[in-house]
Formats: sequence, C-alpha cells, structure tokens
Amino acid sequence: MKLADHKATLSFSNGAPSMELPVYAGTIGPDVIDIRKLYGQTGMFTYDPGFLSTASCQSAITYIDGDKGELLYRGYPIEQIATQCDYLDTCYLLLNGDLPNEGERNDFHKLILNHTMVNEQMQFFLRGFRRDAHPMAVLTGLIGALSAFYHDSTDINNPEHRRIAAIRLIAKMPTLVSMAYKYGVGQPYMYPRNELSYAGNFLRMMFGTPCEDYVVNPVLERALDRIFILHADHEQNASTSTVRLCGSSGTNPFAAIAAGVACLWGPAHGGANEACLNMLEDIQASGGIAKVGEFMNQVKDKNSGVKLMGFGHRVYKNYDPRAKMMQETCNEVLSELGLENDPLFKLAKELEKIALEDDYFVQRKLYPNVDFYSGIVQRAIGIPVNLFTGIFALARTVGWIAQLNEMIGDPEYKIGRPRQLFTGSPRRDVPTLIKR
Ligand code: SDX
Repeated sequence: MKLADHKATLSFSNGAPSMELPVYAGTIGPDVIDIRKLYGQTGMFTYDPGFLSTASCQSAITYIDGDKGELLYRGYPIEQIATQCDYLDTCYLLLNGDLPNEGERNDFHKLILNHTMVNEQMQFFLRGFRRDAHPMAVLTGLIGALSAFYHDSTDINNPEHRRIAAIRLIAKMPTLVSMAYKYGVGQPYMYPRNELSYAGNFLRMMFGTPCEDYVVNPVLERALDRIFILHADHEQNASTSTVRLCGSSGTNPFAAIAAGVACLWGPAHGGANEACLNMLEDIQASGGIAKVGEFMNQVKDKNSGVKLMGFGHRVYKNYDPRAKMMQETCNEVLSELGLENDPLFKLAKELEKIALEDDYFVQRKLYPNVDFYSGIVQRAIGIPVNLFTGIFALARTVGWIAQLNEMIGDPEYKIGRPRQLFTGSPRRDVPTLIKR
C-alpha cells in the first residue's frame, strides 16, 4: 500500500484537539484511513459492529468490486479462471500469487494427489459420532483433530511447516468430506486413487463402493471442479476473518482452519446453500411456482423473519459473478443428466425473475449470490443437502490457508484484539446475600 496524496482530519465539536490521520491507497478499490494511533491520541475507539466500514488487513489475494459484480483471484477475473483453469491451478495461484507454468503445474498436481490419504487412526474419530450427525459437526472435529497427527507442520511461524500444512489440508479435505458422508450412510470409506483428478477422486470416494469399479462422469467432474473454483476465496468474509483472528494467536494451521469450518456452517454464510435448497423444497412441497407470490410476501414482511436464502450479499450490490457461472454449470449438469425440467431449477429461475423485478429487492440491491444455484447443481450430482456446506468448506480451505499465510508472513501482524463500547454497570460492590 502507499500513502495517498491526501490526509484525513478528525475534529471534534466539543473543542477536543483535532488530529490528522494518514490515508493509504491500494492498487484498486477504496482507500483506507489509518486509525491505529486514534486511541493513543484521543482515548477513543472507532465503532463498527459487523465491520461494514473496516479494513482488517491489507491483502493481495482476492478483490471484489461489489458495484460492478467483479471478482478477481490475484488479479485474474473469476470468469477466466473458472473456464481456463482447474481447481488445483487455482490453489497454486491463490497460494503463490501467479498461475503455474507447465512444470510447476505438474509438480503441484502430483504433490497434492500424493497426499490424499489420511492417517488410519482418523476413522476411529468418526465412530464417536452418531450416524445422523451433521457432516459439518464431523468435519469441525476431524479437521481440528489433524493437529494431533502432524507435529512436523504445526509451527505456524515456520514457512516450511505452513507449506506442508497447506498441501496436507488441500489434499485431505476431499478424503475427510467423503468419509463424513460415507459414515452417515453406513458405507465403507473409499481410499483415494492417485491416478484420478482432484474432483474425479472426490466423486469416486463419495459415490464409489468396493463392490464395483466407479467410472467418473467427465461432465460432473468438470462441474464439481468449477464449484470448487467458484468457492475458493472471497476477501475477508466471516470465516476467513475467523481463520485470521484464530491464527493470529499463533495456534497451528489445522486449528485455525477448523475455526473457519465452524464459522462457515452458519446459514447467513456458507450454510446458505443448504438453507436455500431446503427453502426451494418447502416452496415446491407447498405448491411450487403458484406459491411464489405468497412466499415473497412473507420475505418482504419484516416480522416473518423469512429471508430469500441465496440472495443478498454484504459486498455485492450487483449480480454475484459466481452465481452466473453456477447457473451455467447447473444447466450443463441438468442437461447431461436429462433433468432439464428439474422443478427446483425452474422454481429457482422463477424466484430470481420475480425478485429482480420486485422493488423490495431492487431498492436493497439484493441479487442471487453464490449459494442460490449451487445447491441445485450439487443435488443433481447426488450430493446430499446436508453436505453442501462441507463442499463449500473443502473448496474454501485453500483461501483460508492463503489468507492465513499472508497474515503470518506480514512482519507487522499482531494478535487480533478488538475493544468495545461498554454499556454495562459501572463499578459497584458485592452486596451481602441478605441484601440481594
Ligand atoms: C456467503 O461475505 C462473503 O463474501 C460471503 C460469501 C463467501 O464467498 O464467503 O460470499 C458466501 O455467505 C454468501 C451469502 C449467503 N447468505 C445468504 O444467502 C443468506 C441470505 N442473505 C442475507 O442473510 C444477507 O443478504 C447477508 C447476510 C448475505 C448480507 O447481510 P448484510 O450485508 O448484513 O445486509 P442486511 O442484512 O443489512 O440487508 C440489508 C437489507 C435488510 O433490509 P432493511 O433492514 O434494509 O429493510 O436487505 C434485507 C435485510 O432485511 N435482506 C434481505 C436478504 N438479504 C438482505 N431480505 C430478504 N432476503 C434476503 N436474502
């Protein structure tokens, strides 16, 4: 970042001395006002619950222009990455800052595909869960538990440890997610096959069984790889900020990523794809497209607490570019599977059409986000609804790691420790029991 050619002056109407604050400019996007000296000089904090106007860090990884509906991974538009690269190329890009050349690409693919097995002991963790445990509960446990196995890559301040942990996490997430799934359906775990692609391997571990050979469908393989790409990173969203804050204490990478998984689970964040599909199924069950008008009235009624899941975004005030690509992928998969008339897809398109013409949504700049179509395509591939967020976590692991590594690699980083506006009781003495 560089000093902008202007400063910010903060003045107070109560006669307190004003102060100048430096303004920094990034390569693109909003400038920032550096308030690090504010408390020291004024004894005051800034106040920004939800961080709507707060840049928590400087980063060179992902950039979103919410007004344009633009998403760049290391400067490359998501539309180009999703059509010209695969997920492992995207991982290399997010981790290293640029796309791999052919040699780097082959080495990285081989490195990942040869670290896909997990320690045999991991399966005994699963036995402790109920078979009907939500896969995100299982994954939060399994990923945190990885720190119990890799003592040679838990020192977050050691760049070599961070590199090895990154490879292990990216390589093993598909194995862990498919194990969580197989445990829930009571089928045997499938060992990874190193000759398959990253997405193909995951499909086989999910839907293959020891009883017969599994043939990867190239259309589904490509669709899943694209789903991974679209979910790989997204600036300082809630789960990425969780990973950064957790990692800032110096904890190991596996624990920090487990914290990200836990945060992603929420329906306002990564859990929205599961919530969106459940919403579509509920509308379908209560009458389908004929009931959309009634449902939309509920959404617009503040007291109902009903939201149109898969719509709206803190940053995008235009169409989420990932939603557009997800809709395309949806079309491809549904026609490959002969499901062009999938009622939920038709319902989703009708909901989107109505919402984009409705003043409530137009005024609030609410558009479909990445979660609106992702559930429909995952369901068509055969992924159960309660595993959608697990797929999101699998894909986002590389983003979390890249952001964590960027923070730890920044010599200026400190442990994150926000302050507060205290509104509780001033000092008082404990009354004796008889006086309470
Ligand atoms: C992800 O941050 C990221 O980058 C996240 C993510 C990533 O890749 O990491 O992009 C992934 O989490 C996508 C978002 C998935 N969540 C959902 O689809 C859940 C539904 N969406 C909403 O919960 C909401 O839109 C959020 C949480 C996504 C954004 O919330 P904000 O920015 O805090 O916006 P807001 O709640 O203040 O909404 C502004 C207005 C409010 O109405 P008013 O008070 O102004 O009258 O819009 C309304 C909201 O009630 N609104 C909605 C709505 N989303 C916002 N009304 C109906 N349905 C919705 N979905």
